[in-house]
Amino acid sequence: MYKILVVNDDEPVRRLLRLQLRQIDCEVTTSTGAAAISTSIKFIPDMVLLDIEMPEVNGFEVLRELRSYNEFKDTPVIMLSSSADETTIMNAFKGGVNDYILKPFNTSVLFGKIIAWQDAGIETQWTVLSHEQEKVLRLLKVMMDEAFENTRRSTPLSAAAIRNACEILYLTIETEGAGAIVRAVAGYNTTVFLHSLLMCVYIMLFTIYKGYAKDDVIDMAMGGLLHDIGSVKVPNNVLFKPGKLDITEYKDTVLHVQYGTEIMDKTQGLPQVVKNICRYHHERMDGSGYEGMKAEKICTEARLAAIVETYCAVTGKKLNSESKTSADALSYMMSLRGQLDPKLLEDFKEAVLNNFKVN
Ligand SMILES: [Fe+2]
Ligand SMILES: [Fe+2]
Repeated sequence: MYKILVVNDDEPVRRLLRLQLRQIDCEVTTSTGAAAISTSIKFIPDMVLLDIEMPEVNGFEVLRELRSYNEFKDTPVIMLSSSADETTIMNAFKGGVNDYILKPFNTSVLFGKIIAWQDAGIETQWTVLSHEQEKVLRLLKVMMDEAFENTRRSTPLSAAAIRNACEILYLTIETEGAGAIVRAVAGYNTTVFLHSLLMCVYIMLFTIYKGYAKDDVIDMAMGGLLHDIGSVKVPNNVLFKPGKLDITEYKDTVLHVQYGTEIMDKTQGLPQVVKNICRYHHERMDGSGYEGMKAEKICTEARLAAIVETYCAVTGKKLNSESKTSADALSYMMSLRGQLDPKLLEDFKEAVLNNFKVN
């Protein structure tokens, strides 16, 4: 369900908006300006309705802090204000609001704006794809939403349904090529879903490039899709924290591998490579990974996933740093040869330089 955070210092207004928004089937949480950031971190809204005039922490201050978090960089923010002053409105847009509604407003105006912005997410860019390509990405999204929910509740994943979605992706790429799909996902590494989708697509392309048999390609792609599924149990304030993690936060992050492994152990019918990718994708050849495994002790599927993951991380959009071009990413990855499997890395470099031979 679409999640909306209402930030307003006035309790009766918060109550009224909460009631009104129920009509458009949203999950609504409210907060004061002062509590807006901590509430956002807990709630992870899909949209924020932000008042400007708040005595303790005003809308501009909330907006500035919100935008400093990677997770909220692109979250639609609609500012609600009684100020029709041109400078205020221009400053709001300069500060990164997506829309501005003058108070008092008609509820239908608000609803219209919300529905328009609901559709303005990354996934709406998929409408430029062919019907088959769009359908498979949306299917993968549905499967992942379910997998996240299952992991949250510690109930088994639907291995067959996830496999089916990956198989449809394979068939779509086989018949329509992968160029449009790559363009639709490349660089989008900002949420766990988009990162997982990116991993899934690149692992699929790389293993096809390497000549894996179809069933093995699909197993590996499932591993890409599910490798970080345990992240859903890591506290959001740690998962989406900009900048360096302290030691406790780092330990919380490391646990995503254990959480993922636990849910996979409960799930029937998952290929071993999927479990291995989940458990070992943070191992590094020089032993600097989570469990300190070294070189050949790390299975090939996990070494391959580590390479693709590094590529996704450095070419993806990041807070406070520009994403690298693929050429820069490859030379950076070559400097990590001690950590990444050198032979696989050479193959990956060749695959990227050949554009994975996609059309
Ligand atoms: Fe990952
Ligand atoms: Fe991970």
